[in-house]
Amino acid sequence: MSSPHESAAAGLDSGAASVTPAVAVVVVAAGSGQRLGYGIPKARVPLGGEPILMHTLRGIVAAGVARQICIALPKGDGELRRLCEEFSTELVDGGPLLTMVDGGATRADSVRAALRAVESGTDAVLVHDAARALTPETVFHRVVNALAAGAAAVIPVIPVVDTVKTVAVTNGDDARIAPEIVTGTAPREDLRAVQTPQGFELATLLRAHEAAESFDDEQSAAITDDAMLVELLGVPVHAVRGASQSLKITTPLDLILAEGLLEGPLGIRWVEG
Ligand code: C5P
Repeated sequence: MSSPHESAAAGLDSGAASVTPAVAVVVVAAGSGQRLGYGIPKARVPLGGEPILMHTLRGIVAAGVARQICIALPKGDGELRRLCEEFSTELVDGGPLLTMVDGGATRADSVRAALRAVESGTDAVLVHDAARALTPETVFHRVVNALAAGAAAVIPVIPVVDTVKTVAVTNGDDARIAPEIVTGTAPREDLRAVQTPQGFELATLLRAHEAAESFDDEQSAAITDDAMLVELLGVPVHAVRGASQSLKITTPLDLILAEGLLEGPLGIRWVEG
């Protein structure tokens, strides 16, 4: 039997004069998940009867693009570590290597901790939020295809349906009327909502994160994804089509939506029952 990496490589290469890179997927799962209100790390919150992280890992393995999955876990979370170890025993021969590391105080710290554990010989890294438990395989394939075609950075995006405005905190007389005032309207046709997995040439991502290590607290807090750091280097970031079911489970409403997606006609096939 061919390994998941080989079989995916065959599919990904079809029709394109490109070389499939050796890919590691970094999964950032060290967030507290406070906005979900469960009082436990988000990666452990049940979805369809299983922790969110298990869905995310199964999705990555099913996509067949990774030779290694590096997971940044909440520091000292023995339960999640045990679940990951159990999951790694389920993987078939030739499947991805699973590596667990302690995450950091910020998302970027967690990415850096995982990057330190990436095996030598890796060409490209996909950074994926554990909270995007239902990302379809096709999104992973589009990202890896763009890397194989020569992109140094690629992100999955979806169109924005709401009108988006910029605002400022009001003061003086305006503050008596409302807490914020509109300062502008961004042209919606140019806007995209950004998802993960975000794919990068390994050397580019390492350079971007090295630069970010000298950021002050305010600058660090403003970093919400990895592509931002690569943009700061002046490296072009390409955009491919994401998927609406690749939502980041953040609020109780997102969890209800994700449960509905699992139960609906597009239900994820590895959920039993
Ligand atoms: O909080 P936010 O929505 O930005 O989190 C996005 C992802 O980053 C989540 O999957 C979360 O687990 C992860 N994260 C992390 N380490 C942190 C903060 C967030 O791995 N310190």
